[in-house]
Amino acid sequence: MFKILDKQVFSPVVKQMVIEAPRVARRCQPGQFVILRIHEEGERIPLTIADFDREKGTITIVFQEVGKTTRQLGTLEAGDYIRDFVGPLGTPSHIENFGTVICVGGGVGIAPVFPIARALKEAGNHVISIIGARSKDLLFWEDRMREVSSELFVTTDDGSYVRKGFVTDVLKEVIEDRGRDNISLVLAIGPQPMMRACCDVTRDYGIKTIVSLNALMVDGTGMCGCCRVTVGGQTRFVCVDGPEFDGHQVDFAELARRSATFRAEEQRALERHTC
Ligand code: FES
Repeated sequence: MFKILDKQVFSPVVKQMVIEAPRVARRCQPGQFVILRIHEEGERIPLTIADFDREKGTITIVFQEVGKTTRQLGTLEAGDYIRDFVGPLGTPSHIENFGTVICVGGGVGIAPVFPIARALKEAGNHVISIIGARSKDLLFWEDRMREVSSELFVTTDDGSYVRKGFVTDVLKEVIEDRGRDNISLVLAIGPQPMMRACCDVTRDYGIKTIVSLNALMVDGTGMCGCCRVTVGGQTRFVCVDGPEFDGHQVDFAELARRSATFRAEEQRALERHTC
């Protein structure tokens, strides 16, 4: 059993929890994820690690309530326990001094971008971060992202905070302003349409772009095949080969179709849960 040490509510649907999980905290690296199960009969859901503290033995997760399990998770409080908390899973982010890197975080994708941006900055990169959300109430960790970035841009889809527009608008502006040859790498994490749109922008400039895919998962160890995705014409498993891939090689249309496979069942489970 894994104790929830702290809970922060960023909005009615976006929440942060600090979980006591010393063995996960000891070994995890930026870019990796955990699979948790709230109780014995519960669904297994993957969540990318948002932060970790090796000394305290804690893992921070940030999640948006989109279905039955995340909604149930959101009802737990500090002092409650989670049945399973398995990790670290997946391949860590590749960190080196690339030069200038743009880190893009959309919605809850801001959370997994944070430890990667921090590691990239520590490795000597000039880190330009762009964070965005649909509206001000869904935006979080502006202060934390500012701490680990050389420059930070903030945007909201509806213009309720800082500026109106998508992260892709800012991405394009920054590339135009700095010059394509001065950007070594782009990292984009967020909803699938956002990551796909970022890749569409950077493809035109020929800038390598890494995305972190949020596929459906069951075992998280490469055995069930649930998380398969086509990258560069080859079948890859997000849980062991990823979650990060070259975004220009990802078949996003197939990923979107596969992600929607159980939408009707997910909706029914949510309705049963809320009734
Ligand atoms: Fe089963 Fe990846 S979740 S193979």
